[in-house]
Amino acid sequence: MTLLWNDTFINEADLRISKDDRGYHFGDGVYEVIKVYGGSMFTEIEHIDRLYESADKIKLTIPYTKDVLQKMLYDLMEMNNLTDGHIYLQVTRGVVPRQHFFPDEGTEPMLLAYTKEAGRPLEQFKAGVKAKFVEDIRWLRCDIKSLNLLGNVLAKQEAHESGCYEAILHRGEKVTEGSSSNIFGIKDGVLYTHPADNFILNGITRRVVLQCCDEIGLTVIEEAPTKERLLDMDELFLSSTTSEITPIVEVDGHRIGSGSPGQWTEKLQATFEKKIPQKITI
Ligand code: PDD
Repeated sequence: MTLLWNDTFINEADLRISKDDRGYHFGDGVYEVIKVYGGSMFTEIEHIDRLYESADKIKLTIPYTKDVLQKMLYDLMEMNNLTDGHIYLQVTRGVVPRQHFFPDEGTEPMLLAYTKEAGRPLEQFKAGVKAKFVEDIRWLRCDIKSLNLLGNVLAKQEAHESGCYEAILHRGEKVTEGSSSNIFGIKDGVLYTHPADNFILNGITRRVVLQCCDEIGLTVIEEAPTKERLLDMDELFLSSTTSEITPIVEVDGHRIGSGSPGQWTEKLQATFEKKIPQKITI
């Protein structure tokens, strides 16, 4: 496989990562996951914009323009003949002997990007998944797509050990988001989701979902539901780049609504589907 390593394309076998990369020592960097459908990236401008915003929030300067980065990602996709899957990219604060404070200004950030072939979890979109409540113990800047994901990883593991697909995080009674997704509930024809503040990552898929709500006339209230209200929703679903719109049919053993994906969720899935780049068949 070809990798994008800073501004060059290399073979995976030639990758040399330093022990002193701040990504290893501190998780000091930011990342993105961009979905590829039929050889086209989806919402890549939004992902690239968010990468630069995350970098800016941790005072890291990415040494390429957004246009140059976009072009390099397209080239990487073509070199690996990626048709369906995703691109992972991360930027760390560079290589310097371990010290907590930032390295000197001349230290180059380290960019790594690779592609992964992956199908869409269509069965899951139809059947829905189970979820588990887990206390949100993360820091107060969840709006930054940081490489530090320990709080997310611990929560996901807890859900996984309980046979659940996702952990629904809550701070006290308030539901924030999933360990790697955003969470939405629908009650009496109104959609509720946590506002895009510092307690959640403002998902790119979340933004597309809100556009879809607008298009199908579903009222949106950006307000964090309590755990109790969430269990009482008619419909629940999560959104992310790789899970798109995935219905949640059970939380902590409680059935949600009828126990199968709801009508609004299915309508949103259909509206989302229309926005996905189509495979070009000649
Ligand atoms: N996760 N919230 C968290 C904590 C996330 O990690 C993610 C995405 C989202 C959804 O964001 P988006 O719609 O932009 O993918 C929300 C990615 C997919 C991951 O870490 O693999």
